[in-house]
Amino acid sequence: MAVKTLDDLLADGVEGRGVLVRSDLNVPLDDEGHITDPGRIIASVPTLKALSDAGAKVVVAAHLGRPKDGPDPKLSLAPVAAALGEQLGRHVQLAGDVVGTDALARAEGLTDGDVLLLENIRFDPRETSKDEAERLALAKGLVELVGGPDGSGGAFVSDGFGVVHRKQASVYDVATLLPHYAGTLVAAEVKVLEQLTTSSERPYAVVLGGSKVSDKLAVIENLASKADSLIIGGGMCFTFLAAQGVPVGTSLLQEEMIDTCKKLLEDYGDVIHLPVDIVVAEKFAADATPETVDADRIPEGKMGLDIGPGSVERFTTLLSNARTVFWNGPMGVFEFPSFAAGTKGVAEAIIGATAKGGFSVVGGGDSAAAVRQLGLPEDGFSHISTGGGASLEYLEGKELPGIAILES
Ligand code: 3PG
Repeated sequence: MAVKTLDDLLADGVEGRGVLVRSDLNVPLDDEGHITDPGRIIASVPTLKALSDAGAKVVVAAHLGRPKDGPDPKLSLAPVAAALGEQLGRHVQLAGDVVGTDALARAEGLTDGDVLLLENIRFDPRETSKDEAERLALAKGLVELVGGPDGSGGAFVSDGFGVVHRKQASVYDVATLLPHYAGTLVAAEVKVLEQLTTSSERPYAVVLGGSKVSDKLAVIENLASKADSLIIGGGMCFTFLAAQGVPVGTSLLQEEMIDTCKKLLEDYGDVIHLPVDIVVAEKFAADATPETVDADRIPEGKMGLDIGPGSVERFTTLLSNARTVFWNGPMGVFEFPSFAAGTKGVAEAIIGATAKGGFSVVGGGDSAAAVRQLGLPEDGFSHISTGGGASLEYLEGKELPGIAILES
């Protein structure tokens, strides 16, 4: 069965109806609680605005971080509610709880076009519970907010692409209780990933970074046989370098993954490309002194914090004629200006390939944040995904529960 979309819901008419929207508003915050990259908030606006403009009573469920033991003031959605209100151009109320008395009272008081953001949905442990009955109980509480216990009149719009790989109450279970629709963001993201997997023009280059090989193992295994080149940088490259038997100093290392990396290099050595030089420093700090060394000469006591200029040049050559590029994960600690050149250089190479007509997808919170923080043009890429884990799992070929349930 085809997935119904927001347009279908709008065509049915939403004026005066309660509509629950799952958005992904999980944005990075600095130490003072200020939002450092509002990308996901901005990406959530079209669906929310369309519903609000059409007169729906909009109730938004979203998470921030991974709270462990119930409500944590540091992970309140308060700054997000303010930023969302600015982007939407209308006031966004924030409930003091998830499905408690405050949320219920506010939901009942909504008038047509109002937008109510529930407090961090993960403050309620039932959201992420492995127990289906617990999740369903929370989902019923959410349904009550948009149309009574039987959900009469209510509808659910799934628009949090970044969480569709999670089988959680506000992503999955609620869709079993309400008429459900894909929001514009989810629909657009799925379309791009479909294009990437079904009709990727060659040469197809995959660029992977980030800290852990284990997070990317499944996607490496899946894409190594499909891509023409698999470029590896970021913290994870040190486990690959260690697998080649070279010293990596105090760089990030996943020792338990060394054998796996050895096997990957044996099987796909002609596809996998590692950095040839590394920018090292004595400590993980913005003011650490950078020094470029050959990748097989990382000094004892020093850690790699970026790929070097020789690697950028090599990767740029590989990317220059790519017709399809998928990039997930920064090449270094781009948050520190002295260690940002690798990520910037590779991003510019991808922008270059895109300018020549290639199709490029940036997947992942960190790489998307890097594009914006490094001042690179967002429209230099064909698509910047809001979902890190979700886009990776899609490319691994896994079923995404939050998408599968929309097809039911
Ligand atoms: C993300 O940041 O990738 C999404 O918001 C999902 O968050 P999670 O990995 O904590 O489920």
